[in-house]
Formats: sequence, C-alpha cells, structure tokens
Amino acid sequence: MSARVAALIPAAGSGERLGMGAKALLELNGITLLERAIRCLAPLCDEMVVALPSDQLGFELPDVVRKIAGGTTRQETVKRLLEATDADFVLVHDAARPFLPLEVAHNVLSAAKEFGSSTAALPAADTLVLEKDGNWEMLIDRSNVRAVQTPQGFDRILLLEAHQQAVTEHWEATDDAGLVARLGRPVALVNGDPRLFKVTKPGDWALAQAFARVWDAENR
Ligand code: C5P
Repeated sequence: MSARVAALIPAAGSGERLGMGAKALLELNGITLLERAIRCLAPLCDEMVVALPSDQLGFELPDVVRKIAGGTTRQETVKRLLEATDADFVLVHDAARPFLPLEVAHNVLSAAKEFGSSTAALPAADTLVLEKDGNWEMLIDRSNVRAVQTPQGFDRILLLEAHQQAVTEHWEATDDAGLVARLGRPVALVNGDPRLFKVTKPGDWALAQAFARVWDAENR
C-alpha cells in the first residue's frame, strides 16, 4: 500500500500585523489566501486538514477539506493539526504563503519521504549584516545562509515526537523543521522560491495583490 499524505494548513492566525482581520480568509484577485494554498497542495495529498480561528469554523471550504479550530500560537495549531490525522507523511504549509509552485511542494514531499524531514529554503540574495545600535556591526557570509519557508514535509510520527518534546521541554519555534532540528534530527533543505514570500505586513499585501493577477494568468 502506498504511503498516505496529509496537507496540514495552519490558517488560524489573527493577522494582527496586517490589521485586516483573519488573514487567510482575505481575497487576492477574488480567491482567498487559504483557497490558494489548498489548490496548490491538493494534487499531492490524500487528505487535507485546515485550522481556522474558532469563530470562523463556518467558513465555506471544499468538501474534501476537514476543518479544526487552531490554537493560540502557530506551534499549538500545528500540534492540533497533527493530532487530527494518521497519514504517514504530512506537508505543513502556511496559508500566509499563497503562491506555492507545485514543483517546490513535490520536491519537499520527496525529500521528506527519503530523509524523514525537509523544508523549502531560499538562498539569501541580499548582503547580510549583523546590526548593533542602528549600525553595521558585522558582515555575515551569505553563501551558507538560507531563509526557511514552507511547505515543510515530515514523517508524521517524527513531527509528533518533536511537538511532544517541545511541550515537555518548553521549546518554542516559528516553524516545525526548527522543532525537528532541536530534536537533533536532520532536516533536508530543498530549493524554495521567491514567489513563496509570506504575507505578513501591509507592504507584503500590496505585493501579493499585484502578483496575484500574474500568478492566476500563469496557473489557469
Ligand atoms: O503569524 P504568521 O504569519 O507567522 O503565521 C503563519 C501561519 O500560521 C499563518 O498561516 C497563520 O494563519 C498561522 N497561525 C495559526 N495559528 C496561530 C497563529 C498563526 O494557524 N495561532
């Protein structure tokens, strides 16, 4: 029997930094961020589970998508999503990254199946420095630096172990690969994509609005 794959989509954030309400449910060119994430992941997954703010559980989604209430932090939300599936592998992808090239998701999943844990990660294009008191403190060698994105792929049992350990040890991480790394397990890095940028602040929203038309024309 082939391995079952679940897409887990945390979409329960309040969107505080954007200041426009629940971010995942905002529309770009007539399609919500959440629906965009669902469409990108659907071809690769046997099941999909989405976490929404508890007051948005009535939000209409395609029938194949299961809805659960998210937690107070992203980490708590992902733990709930994990506990809602028994798939062999999971692809965790933030609804806040609405433009997901299928090839990236496919490569992340393949690496997760091979190595147990993987994430999309983007080489740094800019010069990177450490700052101190508003001044240039020290140059960072960017050749080995990666900006970590989602999707991230895992053997479900491994990620569950990382989340359970995080609760016991009070670890906090901004993503799931960070928890697996903390467990001392390898995380494979797969080439990410600049189009996978996270919509966080009003400037990102403006960019996403402009880019949505281009993306939709290319992905019809
Ligand atoms: O806040 P941030 O943009 O880092 O959130 C990343 C993703 O995690 C978003 O898709 C957001 O909806 C989700 N999230 C969540 N539950 C929370 C906080 C964030 O599902 N409590």
